[in-house]
Amino acid sequence: MNTHIRDVVTGTGGYLPERLVTNAELATRLDTSDEWIVQRTGIKQRHIAADNETTSLLATHAAKKALEGAGKVADEIDLIIVATATPDYTFPSVATQVQFNLGMTKGVAFDISAVCSGFIFALATAEKFIRSGSHKNVLVIGAETFSRILDWNDRTTCVLFGDGAGAVVLEAKAGLGTTEDRGILTTHLRSDGRHREKLYVDGGVSSSQSVGYLRMEGREVFKHAVGMITDVITDAYNATGLSSTDIDWLVPHQANRRIISASAQKLHIPEEKVIFTVESHGNTSAASIPLALDVAVRDGRIRQNQLIMLEAMGGGFTWGSALLRW
Ligand code: UT7
Repeated sequence: MNTHIRDVVTGTGGYLPERLVTNAELATRLDTSDEWIVQRTGIKQRHIAADNETTSLLATHAAKKALEGAGKVADEIDLIIVATATPDYTFPSVATQVQFNLGMTKGVAFDISAVCSGFIFALATAEKFIRSGSHKNVLVIGAETFSRILDWNDRTTCVLFGDGAGAVVLEAKAGLGTTEDRGILTTHLRSDGRHREKLYVDGGVSSSQSVGYLRMEGREVFKHAVGMITDVITDAYNATGLSSTDIDWLVPHQANRRIISASAQKLHIPEEKVIFTVESHGNTSAASIPLALDVAVRDGRIRQNQLIMLEAMGGGFTWGSALLRW
């Protein structure tokens, strides 16, 4: 029988800055309330990076924990992909900074920009590198310091986001090419630039020579989110012949509890099978899925051979899904 190269997650890691900002604290400086934020988003608190904590530093902490979980040393890694919309510098990439921080002198490292969908885009890219046979051990990281691009006077956006990083180690393993194989079974990526102005940062190198602030038409994003998410999950079902009843855990991007619940309901996935971290992390953009994976692996919910569905939607718009057997 033919063997197929599969990409199996063998380690996860997460890192959240120490400083916690509660809704009550935000309500002391903004016209908002714990009640509004919890009711509309499910968020109760978020972690905010200290001034000296850059995205690459958060990413490095998460990467070290993922390596430890996989029982690997940094030099065994031949590819690092970092998904981020909040890099330390315009260039070089966060990924090369992480490569340096880990003491790696070989392999290749690069960043991917797909905002909140970034981790899924990075995972799908890693999958293609591994399947081609060119790379065997890959660190996929989502890391963000969104606190640096928030307008802290804009209550419609600043209450929603937090900082953090999550990472996974993906290893090439032999499979049979069936949905019983461990590893990534299918990935589906989409984007539609017609929506690029509904969620964007109003500055940048080539436009304003400044960093800018995040701007969002929240209601518009919300309106599209559930349909886009359910579409790419349906794509994953169509590609594999699997369905919601087969899913052990849905690990969604953590933007808003209401979006997650509405998507799960539309797909007939019971909430007991959904990993929620939005309450304690807020929306950490590309970091939210690997952080949620790490939480659920460490508390024993996610176990080997379970079927895990990942999904995200964000600025661009970009959206995507990844179905994997743990
Ligand atoms: O990561 C992927 C991208 N992001 C998302 O997926 C976010 C998608 N959008 C959302 O999650 C929701 O649209 C929000 C949480 C951003 C907003 O919830 P909403 O239920 O859509 O509220 P809304 O924007 O319709 O605003 C309702 C009211 C408005 O007041 P009026 O116009 O009805 O008087 C807002 O001004 O709530 C007001 N409001 C607030 N009130 C207290 C907006 N932000 C706040 C706030 N505190 N922080």
